[in-house]
Amino acid sequence: MFLKILGTAAGGGFPQWNCNCPNCQAVRTNRAGVNWLNQSSIAVRTNNQPWFLVNASPDVRPQLEKLREGQPSTIRSSPIAGVLLTDAEIDHTTGLVILRESTEKLRVYGTETVRKALTEGYPLLSTLASYCGVEWSVLEPHVPINLGLNGADGLEVEVFPLAAKPPKYMRHQTNLDGIWVIGLTFRDRTTGKVATYAPGLAELDEKILERFESSDCILVDGTCWHNDELLALGISKLQARDMGHLPLNTSLKSLANLSRPRKILVHINNTNPILLPDSEERKIVEAAGIEVGYDGLTIEL
Ligand code: MLT
Ligand code: MN
Ligand code: ZN
Repeated sequence: MFLKILGTAAGGGFPQWNCNCPNCQAVRTNRAGVNWLNQSSIAVRTNNQPWFLVNASPDVRPQLEKLREGQPSTIRSSPIAGVLLTDAEIDHTTGLVILRESTEKLRVYGTETVRKALTEGYPLLSTLASYCGVEWSVLEPHVPINLGLNGADGLEVEVFPLAAKPPKYMRHQTNLDGIWVIGLTFRDRTTGKVATYAPGLAELDEKILERFESSDCILVDGTCWHNDELLALGISKLQARDMGHLPLNTSLKSLANLSRPRKILVHINNTNPILLPDSEERKIVEAAGIEVGYDGLTIEL
């Protein structure tokens, strides 16, 4: 199995267009070791099978260019066989509309709750119906799906619920029940290797820790270091937890205690001090045996 980080930053990217926080200024002034980061997305595939995109960020166009190796020389070809969504957030779904030129219906996987949000609240699916169209496959917790083309024994995905937090644009609705945020566990049916992707981790309970411990690699929510990171910078009154993201100074110890998986942080907000290579927080993360993800990082399991 191959996993490629296409975008390591949380919504807004790094730097964010309207942000003058110390990190965003550091990347604009080309501080050594501080790099531009696209918004949250990864790609995954197994041997001899096409890539699947996980989350379609607003930066999807340059991100897909990174997957074009080995593309056929026909006049049009897609580097991906489908898109899997962990949630209906703007930073994870806006890329869908950028893919409207697809010559076939876009194959999209997500929960029924996410499908409804993208039809009624942020109507990307209804919009795409007039362009390439979408073939939606429902993801249900703990029902593994084989993503292998034509039934090939390739990649299996099994999803698990992570947070009950709807996107801001849905919060005026009266019934907010549903599976808003999921994590994904990928299993290579040939090699048995397992990877878990969880960019929206609101809690870290025993069940999730067990899942992480039985993975060979985890790509995990590294949005904020402090719960009040945005507040301290005068950016927002919202706390990391209000946004459905467990801050790293809370989750780090449990992540560090995991012995089996390679541990990589993703969905990192531009305010997070771990983005600076010489910060105390970066040293703490690295000393805990946890990696800070970066765009282009490819993991082979
Ligand atoms: C999140 O990760 O919590 C969302 O992307 C935040 C947002 O974009 O509003
Ligand atoms: Mn996000
Ligand atoms: Zn910033």
